[in-house]
Amino acid sequence: MKLLGTALALAALTSAVDHQHALKQGDSRPNIIVILTDDQDLHMQSVEYMPLLKKHMIDQGTYYKKHYCTTAICCPSRVTLWTGKNAHNTNVTDVHPPYGGFPKFVSEGLNKNYLPVWLQEAGYSTFYTGKLFNAHNVQNWNSPHPAGWTSSDFLLDPFTYEYLNATFQRNQDEPVSHEGEYSTDVLAQKAFGLLEEAVDLGKPFFLTMAPIAPHSNVAAQQFPEPRSTPFTAAELMQVKMTTPIPAQRHKDLFPGAKVPRTANFNPDKPSGVSWLKHLDQLSAEAVQYNDDYYRARLQALQAVDEMVDELFERLASYGLLENTYVIYTSDNGFHISQHRLPPGKECGFEEDINIPLIIRGPSIPVGGETDIVTAHTDIVPTIFKLAGIKPREDFDGSAIPLNKTGLQQAIGERQEHVNVEYWGNALPEGKHWFSLDDGKPVFYVNNNTYKALRLIGKDYNLFYSVWCTNEHELYDMVTDPYQINNIYHSAPTEPERTILNLPLSKVLPRLDALLMVTKSCKGATCVNPWSVLHPQGDVKSLGDALNTNFDAFYMLDVKEKVSFDKCELGYIVESEGPQALGLPVFGQHKEDL
Ligand SMILES: *[C@@H]1O[C@H](CO)[C@@H](O)[C@H](O)[C@H]1NC(C)=O
Ligand SMILES: *[C@@H]1O[C@H](CO)[C@@H](O)[C@H](O)[C@H]1NC(C)=O
Ligand SMILES: *[C@@H]1O[C@H](CO)[C@@H](O)[C@H](O)[C@H]1NC(C)=O
Ligand SMILES: *[C@@H]1O[C@H](CO)[C@@H](O)[C@H](O)[C@H]1NC(C)=O
Repeated sequence: MKLLGTALALAALTSAVDHQHALKQGDSRPNIIVILTDDQDLHMQSVEYMPLLKKHMIDQGTYYKKHYCTTAICCPSRVTLWTGKNAHNTNVTDVHPPYGGFPKFVSEGLNKNYLPVWLQEAGYSTFYTGKLFNAHNVQNWNSPHPAGWTSSDFLLDPFTYEYLNATFQRNQDEPVSHEGEYSTDVLAQKAFGLLEEAVDLGKPFFLTMAPIAPHSNVAAQQFPEPRSTPFTAAELMQVKMTTPIPAQRHKDLFPGAKVPRTANFNPDKPSGVSWLKHLDQLSAEAVQYNDDYYRARLQALQAVDEMVDELFERLASYGLLENTYVIYTSDNGFHISQHRLPPGKECGFEEDINIPLIIRGPSIPVGGETDIVTAHTDIVPTIFKLAGIKPREDFDGSAIPLNKTGLQQAIGERQEHVNVEYWGNALPEGKHWFSLDDGKPVFYVNNNTYKALRLIGKDYNLFYSVWCTNEHELYDMVTDPYQINNIYHSAPTEPERTILNLPLSKVLPRLDALLMVTKSCKGATCVNPWSVLHPQGDVKSLGDALNTNFDAFYMLDVKEKVSFDKCELGYIVESEGPQALGLPVFGQHKEDL
């Protein structure tokens, strides 16, 4: 036994050495770099204030204009980003325990099952600097270490959002405070150090640079002491998120820059459902505060812009540009003053979910722009494809096309939907939104739980949501791009609204059935949810499903719709109503959900 064991070990060792050797000799797989900003919007034009990002990425790569996060808050979105799974399949649905944060990522077994681990197994070296997940902090950083990184230098809570007093933690070393230094500049130097290490190793590498800009600044003293038990609402309400802090050299830029005055900017009539429809219109003073806050975000992004410039300079000097893909995105979007909202995220509005995605690399059309629908669940499958790894069956997304032919084929063929979901709180950001009396936020919402669908097809463009209060929203974004008129209930005096010339009474049952599938889809059914409703494969889009041949099926056979019994702060299935479509158990539909 012992001998055999040794022989096997020796064989394994020899093969590992061979493998290493082969890699050094000629592994021509591309390097992959992700630049991940925090809370960066697409709809308030933040990208247009980044000339160096434009020069190196937008002008030299392809801009994916219909890219979406699936849960509009940091930790759940980042877990989705690095696992390729929707939050309903990771059950990391919040930023803090018990429903989220780094401890929940670990307890769900995901620390053994996410991108860097898979990339290392496939022969890549892997590097990360910046914010990984929330609640990854100065106490739990080594219990356990985030797995899968050849070399890493993480930002740690409670100092993550201190622009001028960050704490970084490198490899197995103790955390180090960077008091008085500018977080993004420290991070850039760390990233370039990691890049050098990667180049020295001489095999294909993956590197993420994850600065906090343009997130709010959060003072560490306001964080409750890190601990294993959940924070209370009262403790969380002490955490004040204030105006982002730009680097000293950028603090006077863009005088007069203001939040774009779009149709949904602080509207005269409230919009949205649930807690949103009770928001007061913003005062002139609040609008002014929000504009200042907005300008600070643009300024804070300038250090990121400079980091992008230096990255490309370095890639060029290493001779790596020809074999490196660079992916630029954010964890989620952001709103300021739209729908009367204070600065923040967590909503299903387009400002919160439709986010920047720009990719540059060897096969990618230069100066390209596309409207194909992509989501954060597609990023890991895309990286797998680049690394030549077979996709996992539990991926909830599919690879994003990265060449001209692929991009052209995707038009009309690629999925038209995004599954959007959220559980728990909505919190205002910016100190204006904290009461002077007790320092607590002016609102604290604990019923911001909803399931939604974003659908962008030929001749239709829809957002549909069902809330834990059982309210519904339907926006026809062809005629109402700013999501002001909820047409779910047309007034009785108005003629019934139509979509594709069909009355809503025909469209809604299709949307309800689709949402029933997407809200708890897994793997392939997330990419093609219609296959659950039409197993014979003749329906691939809402347009197909609207065929009158299917009227009876949608009106009579599909018995159950998404509904809630209760608003919860996490993914508590028992409070989330029916879980199956309730299809009749005969014929082709017996493989019910
Ligand atoms: C900066 O952070 C360190 C801990 O890492 C802390 O000891 C120090 O007081 C902080 N400085 C300021 C000005 O908040
Ligand atoms: C282009 O991308 C498509 C899929 O997106 C892929 O099937 C094809 O092989 C790629 N072509 C080249 C030349 O790389
Ligand atoms: C939602 O939560 C807010 C704040 O906790 C509360 O004021 C409101 O009544 C709740 N709405 C519903 C429909 O539960
Ligand atoms: C998600 O996690 C929470 C907290 O651990 C747990 O109560 C809940 O049952 C989990 N939901 C699912 C669907 O596993």
